[in-house]
Order: sequence, then C-alpha cells, then structure tokens
Amino acid sequence: MKILSIETSCDETSIAFVEASGGIKAPRFTVLQNVVSSQIALHAPFGGVVPNIAKREHLKNLPLVFNTIYSKPYSLSPDVIAVTVGPGLEPALWTGVNFAKEIRKKYFPKAKLVGVNHMEGHLYSFLLEQKKIKSKAQMTNAKTYPAVGLVVSGGHTILLLLKSLTEWKKLGETRDDAVGEAFDKVARMLGLPYPGGPEIQKAAAQGDAGSINFPRPMMKDKNYDFSFSGLKTSVLYYIRDHKEQSRNKHFVEDVAASFQAAAVETLAHKTARAVQEFKAQSIILAGGVAANRSLRETLERTSKKLGVHFFAPPMAYNTDNAAMIAAAAYIQTLKKKNHRITAQANLTL
Ligand code: KG4
Ligand code: ZN
Repeated sequence: MKILSIETSCDETSIAFVEASGGIKAPRFTVLQNVVSSQIALHAPFGGVVPNIAKREHLKNLPLVFNTIYSKPYSLSPDVIAVTVGPGLEPALWTGVNFAKEIRKKYFPKAKLVGVNHMEGHLYSFLLEQKKIKSKAQMTNAKTYPAVGLVVSGGHTILLLLKSLTEWKKLGETRDDAVGEAFDKVARMLGLPYPGGPEIQKAAAQGDAGSINFPRPMMKDKNYDFSFSGLKTSVLYYIRDHKEQSRNKHFVEDVAASFQAAAVETLAHKTARAVQEFKAQSIILAGGVAANRSLRETLERTSKKLGVHFFAPPMAYNTDNAAMIAAAAYIQTLKKKNHRITAQANLTL
C-alpha cells in the first residue's frame, strides 16, 4: 500500500511517502520520502508555539514541501492519503486537513482519505525504519505482547498496556504538565532556548545529576499517573534561591542534569512497575521525549534487567513527522478503523 501522509498538528509541516506491507502481524514500512519543515526558529522568541503563526507557516510550507516530494523521479501515486486530525492546535490541524482534501481532488481522486490520531502515529513510530533496512521490530514475535507503552511528548505523558498492536488500555497519564512541557519550561527558567528538551539534554551531559535532589512526584504512588508540575515548581524555587548563580554555566548544567534525572527516574520507575504487575514482554517508547538519550538508555537498561524487549523509534522519527502518520494509517486501514476527516483538537488515545 502506497501512503502519502500529512502532519501539521503543531510546529512542523511534514509530508511523507511510505510503502507499507506485511499486514497486521508483520507490518513493514519503507519510507521513500519524509520531509519535515520546522518552524521552531519562528516560535523560539515567544518561548512556545503561537497557533496563528503555526497556521500561517503551514499554509505557506505545505505546497513547498509537497513540491519537494513531487519533484523527485518516482511514480508516487498513493492508494491512501493520510492526514493528522488531532490532537493538536486546531488552526494548524485544519491546514493539513484542507490540504489533504485539496490534493486528493486535484491529483489523486482515487486515493482513500484517512484521518489519523497523532498519538497513534507516535505509538507506531517504532515500526519505522529507513529505506532498505530490515525492520528489527518484527511484530510476528508473539512474545512482544502484552507490552507497556510509554508515550511522552510536549502535550502528553501516557502509560499504556497493549494486548496487541491495536488493542490497549490506558494505565495512567499526567495530572498536570506533560513531561516534554516540563523540559521546555525548565529550559526557559535556565535561559535556554525553545524547544527545551534537546537543550536540557545537552546541558545535563556536562552536569552532575546527583548534585540536587529534586522530588519525584507520585513516583511511589500505587497508581500509574504522573505529575510534573511539582517538579517544575521545585526547580523554579531552587533557581530563585540561587539567583546570583542562575546564569552560571555549571549551575545551569547541574540543575539540568538533576531535573532530567528526576523526570527520567519517575517515568522509568512506573514503566518498570507496570511491566512487573502485568507480566509484560516488552516496553515501547514513543513521542518527542523518546529522543532523550538518558530516557532511552535508562529504559533499555530497565528492560534488560527485567528480561523484556525494548522498542523505540529510530532517531529521525521521535519528534513530529509525517512518516509515523503513514504507519498509523496503514494499521488503521487494516483494522477498518476511521476517524472523521475534520480537526479534532482534543482527540485522545
Ligand atoms: O512529539 P513532539 O515532537 O511534539 C508533540 O506532539 O508535542 O514532542 C516535542 C517535545 C518537546 O517538549 C521537546 O522539548 C521534547 O519533545 N523533546 C525532548 C528531546 N527532544 C525533544 N525532551 C527531552 N530530551 C530530548 N532530547
Ligand atoms: Zn507529537
């Protein structure tokens, strides 16, 4: 199945062309094109994404990205046009939905239009591999399930129990800030640019993670919910109490490392407990924060210790991209599941 996919839920305009095969038991993807046009530099001065700027930029960039893909000498006629319908910023989502309808009408009237949940895109991104590299996440292995899925992004922190690739229940989620949001806010407090996740990671690599003992909110609670607002506030108070040092390089590195350690330990602790309680056979990590090296390494170590598999997306597919939307569209098409082709800002997993 040839899938042309479109992603515009936040601040990346992305279009991909993906070939999918193998069916639900062993889905395989060849990403022929995955172009991501980032608006980060435009939003950075505001310290976060401004919805109307995002809309304006998507409208400008969608035809450019589309032309980039269709200037290549492939015969890229899709069977399916997939588009993110939510969750995300409503004005941004509409640009993708309208563009998908427009190109279908104009160029590919035979293609089926499929609406995709952005979070399902993240969840399935671990199935993606670069062109010609054999998928290491062959889903034929019966021992993959049940699996514990940790989906961590700028807007979400969700722990799932997956019975199969397509059946899951939510074990818990954040009660306040998403973990990516906490990374972004702490970076801002430290005078680091937006988006804060990669900046915190960079600073943390030079710092001492044991230097400040920030709290691990709700870590020992019996439920599977998270809270990152308290951790963020502790960092804020710590910086306020050490105002005279707050732009000192070593201070910034130690705060970044100690904050990252608290966030990662909280996520890993609850993930490990879920694996044990539900006798899971694997851990699946997904979402923009899955790019965090410390989180990946910690979960990899955790999975080795517990004797379970660990799946994470290839580095190029952690943060928002259209290739993952194609992956979700394929699985969805096989399950004959559909979402309405309209912007749904608050769609959930
Ligand atoms: O999935 P994503 O691209 O967009 C949403 O759907 O939200 O995730 C973006 C989030 C941002 O909060 C960003 O700071 C965070 O992912 N992020 C990271 C890293 N790279 C991106 N957080 C921690 N470490 C990273 N290396
Ligand atoms: Zn995302």
